[in-house]
Amino acid sequence: MRITIFGTGYVGLVTGACLADAGHEVMCMDIDAQKVARLKQGEIPIYEPGLETLVTENVGQQRLLFTTDAAEAVAFGTLQFIAVGTPPDEDGSADLQYVLAVAKTIGQHMEDYKVVVDKSTVPVGTADRVHEAIAGALGERGVSLDFDVCSNPEFLKEGAAIEDFTHGARIVVGTDSERVKALMRECYAPYNRRVEKLMFMDVRSAELTKYAANAMLATKISFMNEIANLAERLGADIEQVRRGIGSDPRIGYHFIYPGCGYGGSCFPKDVQALARTASQIGYDPQLLNAVEAVNDRQKSTLFEKLGQAFDGQLDGKTVAVWGLAFKPNTDDMREAPSRHLMEALWAAGARVRAYDPEAMEECRRIYGERDDLTLVGGRDEALQGSDALVICTEWKSFRTVDFAHLHRTLRTPVIVDGRNLFEPDQVRAAGLLYFAVGRGDSL
Ligand code: UGA
Repeated sequence: MRITIFGTGYVGLVTGACLADAGHEVMCMDIDAQKVARLKQGEIPIYEPGLETLVTENVGQQRLLFTTDAAEAVAFGTLQFIAVGTPPDEDGSADLQYVLAVAKTIGQHMEDYKVVVDKSTVPVGTADRVHEAIAGALGERGVSLDFDVCSNPEFLKEGAAIEDFTHGARIVVGTDSERVKALMRECYAPYNRRVEKLMFMDVRSAELTKYAANAMLATKISFMNEIANLAERLGADIEQVRRGIGSDPRIGYHFIYPGCGYGGSCFPKDVQALARTASQIGYDPQLLNAVEAVNDRQKSTLFEKLGQAFDGQLDGKTVAVWGLAFKPNTDDMREAPSRHLMEALWAAGARVRAYDPEAMEECRRIYGERDDLTLVGGRDEALQGSDALVICTEWKSFRTVDFAHLHRTLRTPVIVDGRNLFEPDQVRAAGLLYFAVGRGDSL
């Protein structure tokens, strides 16, 4: 079938590439001409394992097309996916201007029946607003055409997006229309073969499902970080506690890894947006607010632990940072704990030598050239001339370490590990001061 996707960001591009790969004809539309020109050459603006190959192959097969022409894009597909950004407004609620602008564009150009599919993460009630925007644009043209709006939230993790799209746990579609159900079934048929993954529900429930899923996962993380902070103060080891509770199937092992706080473009934004929605309807979202507050505090723990190791004297120190991305297998630094740490270090007069396997360019883009930031080509180089090492991201390549070498290289033997990569006894046996998360005190 023919499918149009508005927005060639992370979600739009993964959706487009995967649907094209399944045999559909897909046209991706973006207003950024430069981006579209690069995509036509198979150049991918983001780092996502497997995506470049998928795009290149499907562009080659002419199943995946890119355009900046709105009229052409609207004419192309019966399904019109909206996958543009919903950045947080000043007050934390989702900014819908891009979503509604696409809706208007569809209304301005459509000539026959369309199903408009909200893929972007949007507050409950947005489908109604998209409906109004399209109807408004049609009204201005003085034409009356049939169309439907449905909600189809994405559950893609950065770094594993293609796997999540093709082998996800569920495909949620919010609609009351039988016609829409049939078309969405056809769209997802290639990825809905052995197990029935399609879940039809009403539009508002689908919209809320997306926020509820992310808020639940963020809650698990903040909960574990809180227990880790308690463990640290009570002389317990959070890693043993994690195993102890994860073994209960009602709790499970997923998403209970303590760390230096969750980041990325989804959890922080979505927890905030849901809290904002709650407040707008007069409900006090106490738990959601606490999840966010605990996470904000957790991001400060790396800096606090360094302060503890150096008696608060960080002025003039040099700190090696391993990992800049908010998690492994991505170059995304949005809301990354590393940023919180580096900015606090700079404010305290310290310098940073940083390394990340993928996010160096992104870091350069965000912070530019500055005297107190040296981006180096490898993890060992980061240690040269540094007083301490802080691990912000659990890249696989950071997991094997020669502690004796580390001890010799660092000016002071201090490691702050925001991801609990090592066994404290082993690190400490090498004479290093080791600060992990919720694993007892090093001093
Ligand atoms: C998240 C969800 O996992 C996806 O299902 C969802 O589709 C996506 O948001 C979205 O809304 O688009 P993502 O932000 O890519 O995906 O990253 P996650 O792998 O979920 O990690 C989020 C953060 O939580 C990372 O900073 C990670 O380090 C942290 N985390 C995760 C922990 O601190 N502990 C854990 O146990 C798990």
